[in-house]
Amino acid sequence: MAALTLPRPPFSAFILLLFLLRLPYSHQQQPQTPPAPSAGGELYFPGFKNSASNISLAGFAQIQRSNGLLQLTNHTSRLLGHAFYSSPFRLKASPNGSALSFSTSFVFSIVPEYPKLGGHGLAFALSPSPHPAALPSQYLGLLNSSDMGNFSNHLFAVEFDTVQDFEFGDINDNHVGIDINSLVSNDSASAAYYAGDSSGKVDLNLKSGKPVFAWVDYDSGSTTVNVTVSPSSSKPTKPILSFKVDLSPILNEHMYVGFSASTGLLASSHYVLGWSFSIGGGGDSRALELSSLPQLPGPKKDHRVALAIGVSFSVVLVLVLAIGAVFYIVRKIRNADPIEDWELDIGPHRFSYQELKRATDGFKGNQLLGAGGFGQVYRGILRNSKTQIAVKRISHESKQGLREFVSEISTIGRLRHRNLVQLLGWCRRRSDLLLVYEFMPNGSLDKFLFDGPETTLDWDQRFNIIKGVASGLLYLHEGYEQVVIHRDVKASNVLLDGELNGRLGDFGLARLYDHGSNPSTTRVVGTLGYLAPELSRTGKSDAFSDVYAFGAFLLEVVCGRRPIEPKAPAEELVLVDWVWERYREGRVLDVVDSKLNGEFNESEVLMILKLGLMCSNSKPDQRPSMRQVMRYLDGEVEVPESSRAPGALEVERGQGGFEDFLDSFASSSFDNMSSSSFTGRRDFDTTLSLSTPRSLPNVSTGYTR
Ligand SMILES: *[C@@H]1O[C@H](CO)[C@@H](O)[C@H](O)[C@H]1NC(C)=O
Ligand SMILES: *[C@@H]1O[C@H](CO)[C@@H](O)[C@H](O)[C@H]1NC(C)=O
Ligand SMILES: *[C@@H]1O[C@H](CO)[C@@H](O)[C@H](O)[C@H]1NC(C)=O
Ligand SMILES: *[C@@H]1O[C@H](CO)[C@@H](O)[C@H](O)[C@H]1NC(C)=O
Ligand SMILES: *[C@@H]1O[C@H](CO)[C@@H](O)[C@H](O)[C@H]1NC(C)=O
Ligand SMILES: *[C@@H]1O[C@H](CO)[C@@H](O)[C@H](O)[C@H]1NC(C)=O
Ligand SMILES: *[C@@H]1O[C@H](CO)[C@@H](O)[C@H](O)[C@H]1NC(C)=O
Repeated sequence: MAALTLPRPPFSAFILLLFLLRLPYSHQQQPQTPPAPSAGGELYFPGFKNSASNISLAGFAQIQRSNGLLQLTNHTSRLLGHAFYSSPFRLKASPNGSALSFSTSFVFSIVPEYPKLGGHGLAFALSPSPHPAALPSQYLGLLNSSDMGNFSNHLFAVEFDTVQDFEFGDINDNHVGIDINSLVSNDSASAAYYAGDSSGKVDLNLKSGKPVFAWVDYDSGSTTVNVTVSPSSSKPTKPILSFKVDLSPILNEHMYVGFSASTGLLASSHYVLGWSFSIGGGGDSRALELSSLPQLPGPKKDHRVALAIGVSFSVVLVLVLAIGAVFYIVRKIRNADPIEDWELDIGPHRFSYQELKRATDGFKGNQLLGAGGFGQVYRGILRNSKTQIAVKRISHESKQGLREFVSEISTIGRLRHRNLVQLLGWCRRRSDLLLVYEFMPNGSLDKFLFDGPETTLDWDQRFNIIKGVASGLLYLHEGYEQVVIHRDVKASNVLLDGELNGRLGDFGLARLYDHGSNPSTTRVVGTLGYLAPELSRTGKSDAFSDVYAFGAFLLEVVCGRRPIEPKAPAEELVLVDWVWERYREGRVLDVVDSKLNGEFNESEVLMILKLGLMCSNSKPDQRPSMRQVMRYLDGEVEVPESSRAPGALEVERGQGGFEDFLDSFASSSFDNMSSSSFTGRRDFDTTLSLSTPRSLPNVSTGYTR
């Protein structure tokens, strides 16, 4: 650390001025043609000053002119930065030859925006392209969601990851990993180093903002990759990762060598201070010494600038600041919404109300995207990062419910999967809760299915959406450390991204109504037509009730109509019964959406319909788990023919299957009446016509504990 301290201000201010004066000259530097592909050789960059022509930069990445510091990202969300040596290296002696030994060392620093929360990480990479077509956030700028794990990626990377992504099975939020063609690490270890020969591991914080020394060595003889990190320039003798892998089939003959970094919802500035690389020589890459590397920008920088500008300016500045502060405080008092203790535990995802107000133009009507069950949704653009967002505004009369829900946001906000709509943050203002989500340009799926849609989806698109939603739901049920029950799976909660991939939204929201205001009632939440019959008896949602709703969803995607369609002829009123009748009669393809004009893959459609019926079984343990559903969808297992009606169980018990089925609708509708607005009006109407006096007494007992 001592080496990092800057000289006293007046001197450094002088240097700074010198650099400022020098700037025009560096502009005139001619871009040089990149040298021919290197075969064997060495790189040595103790800082990247005057190396702009040797390094190919992309994304945010830049080399600071003043001191030659390579910066890959700053504190802006969802950035990526690439810095690769401008010409590819020959990593194999011949196309079919074996990969050559190489050795590299570099010094990097990760300065997070919030002290303990990094975002997302940095990687040393061997890549076929100096600018991979990749995504930021958890993809680290190396891969995208469509090429994950593909053998044709020819990617080798060592990640220094500061966010724990459950999707990729990360071990923690401070680890080193070896990634081959995928961001699911082949081997990883918590960041640490062996201080001496005999002593144990010492933890190393990657996101401390201090320089971290790293070494990556590949030995072609023993086909081993070693990764070592240390807070100082002396290389520990024992690596933190030693992974046996023959890189020959993974690498191309010529590859680009360099770095990639990205930020996500949370951001860090990622810097590379120096880098050396050697290949084919057999020896270690040249050592880097901290004293010869550029210095990281520290808090002292402001000090320097202020002094360079001069004392007189600072006086003006102080005055301006003082006036600004007075205005700010006055405004703050006007908009005061004191933060309560429990909110402090939630973490950094809290947006300020002002920011969201600005982003949505003050929640103006023309920004309204829709008004759904849980509240209104507005479109917005965050001023700082220019990110498009959707803001959901929910009013909740019960402070208790709101409080418990907000405390769950920390969990929900950590769920990450490409088939879930990412929750970016939240804001509470009085009894309003504002949830900030990723913006989904194509809106919700129901608009493409029901009520004479303007555009409709072809079968392949529908099948892809079904698979996406299934894998999102499987992640909620099994991919996370705790089981997350969605409770409101339906077409209108499935949103479509720019590429028409299905993304499940609103997960966890239904929970808000569980912590309802009336303690004597356990509200059954969800939407009529998707509610599993057992919910009316137990009132408890579980993974199987999600599967039931998923079954209803499957049928509506194939048939292009809602689970209950009041306008339909009486026998077709309840979708699942209609499908079952047709299936029994061997005419099941009659139910397929006529908007498909008969163009569909018959075996896929049949499979989905059978699966839909299977999931709609009134007996929870007859429904498949989402993992089984995934197997059916992937064609690993064939969906069995069913010989019983989905409601058969109730008949056996002598309760009358169909009536019990309707009862469960009626009862859920009764509950909906009291919390008026959270199902669509159409559903509400239906239930009124379905509720018979006979079924109502059932209802009141069904819900009170
Ligand atoms: C950078 O490129 C120039 C011109 O091609 C070359 O002379 C120089 O050796 C290169 N430096 C490194 C470190 O590769
Ligand atoms: C990051 O860099 C961009 C572009 O140079 C700049 O507009 C933005 O203000 C920077 N963000 C932060 C937080 O420094
Ligand atoms: C390399 O391998 C490919 C396919 O395995 C083969 O067709 C080709 O002839 C080989 N080339 C050399 C130079 O051995
Ligand atoms: C994903 O990466 C592959 C290969 O790098 C590229 O061909 C493809 O276009 C990328 N897809 C997207 C959506 O960027
Ligand atoms: C892997 O990528 C290649 C080329 O980009 C593509 O043709 C192939 O379908 C991909 N394989 C998988 C399993 O995605
Ligand atoms: C690395 O992991 C990927 C998937 O995560 C796997 O396909 C590949 O076989 C693994 N490679 C090695 C050498 O273990
Ligand atoms: C990797 O580490 C192991 C264990 O310390 C060591 O035996 C081996 O020589 C190292 N290999 C390389 C290429 O550094």
